[in-house]
Amino acid sequence: MIRAPAGDPQAKETPMPTKPVLALARTLPDAVEARAARDYDVRPAPVDHPPLGGDALVAHAAGADGLLVAPGNAVSAAVIDALPDSVRVIATFSVGFDHVDLDAARARGIVVTNTPDVLTDATADIAMLCLLGAARRAGEGDALMRAGAWAGWAPTHMMGTHVTGKRLGIVGMGRIGRAVAKRARAFDMTIHYNDRAPLPPHQAEGAVFHDTVEALLPQCEFLSLHCPATPETTGLMNAERIALLPRGAILVNTARGPVLDDAAVIAALKSGHLAAAGLDVYTGEPAVNPGYRDLPNTFLLPHLGSATVETREAMGFRALDNLDAVLLRGEAPGDRVA
Ligand code: DGY
Repeated sequence: MIRAPAGDPQAKETPMPTKPVLALARTLPDAVEARAARDYDVRPAPVDHPPLGGDALVAHAAGADGLLVAPGNAVSAAVIDALPDSVRVIATFSVGFDHVDLDAARARGIVVTNTPDVLTDATADIAMLCLLGAARRAGEGDALMRAGAWAGWAPTHMMGTHVTGKRLGIVGMGRIGRAVAKRARAFDMTIHYNDRAPLPPHQAEGAVFHDTVEALLPQCEFLSLHCPATPETTGLMNAERIALLPRGAILVNTARGPVLDDAAVIAALKSGHLAAAGLDVYTGEPAVNPGYRDLPNTFLLPHLGSATVETREAMGFRALDNLDAVLLRGEAPGDRVA
C-alpha cells in the first residue's frame, strides 16, 4: 500500500496498482528478464533443463496471467486444458510454434503469440554455415585438428564439394528462405524454390519457382529446408523424394527435425546418394539419431539457428511486446498465431 504523507490526516491510503503475473517457463537472457521484472510480477523458471512440461508446467502457471514458453516446453492439448483460467496469453520465445497446441488454445480462448522477423538473419546465417560446413567437411577437419592427427597438406586431402555457382533448392521461401537465397547469391548460386505459390518478382529476385517439391528436387545440387513442421511436412524428405535429388546432393536442415525421415537420410548418406548433410535441428531434441553422429559426412550443430546475443534479446523483447499488448494495454498483439 502507498501510505499517505505523515501529518496529513485527511489523506486516504491509495492501493498500489498490481502488476500482472508472468510465469517464465525457461531462463531468458538477463536483459529480457530485467524488462519482464520491471513490468510484471515475474515467476522465474524453476529449472531450464529439462524444460518444464506436463503437470509441472501447469503448476508453474497457477495464478499467472501470462505464460512465456520456448521450444522444449511441450505445451500440449492436455497442458492447455489443465491451465488455470487466469492464463490469458501464451507467448512463445520462438518463431516456430509446433510445441504449442494451437487448437487447444483457441478452444480455451487463450491467445498465442510467436517472435517472427527478429531471428531471420541469424537463422539464415546458420543455414549457410551448415551448407558450407557439410560441403567443405568442416566437422571432419575440426575433429582431425583437435585429435592432433593432421599429417599435413596434400593434393588429395579432405576434398569436399564446390559451392560457388551451384544450384540451391529451397523448400519454403518465407522470410528465412529468402534470407538464405540472398546469402547464397553472394556465392553465385542459382536459386530454385518451392512454396505454395510463386513469389512476386521483387521477392523472387530471379529464383525459379517449382510448383511441387518433386519438381524442385532434381534441380538441387544443394537443398535447404525452411518449411514449418506440420502434419503435411512430417517425413517430407523420405526415401522416394531423396531419390529425386541428383547423386551427390547436399542436404541442409535448419527448420525442424521431423521434416526428415531420419532412416532414409542416413541410408542416403551411407550410400553416397547424399554427399553430406548439415543439420541444426533433430527429431526428439536433444536426442540425436546416433546414425547422424556415427557418419563422417554430417556437420551437426545443437539447434543454434537463433543463438546470438542480439537475436535472443530481440526474441525476448518481441515476446514481451506481445504480452504487454494483451496484459498491460488490453490490445491485440502484433504476432498472434492463435
Ligand atoms: C525458433 O524460433 O523456432 C527457432 O527454432 C529457435 O531457434
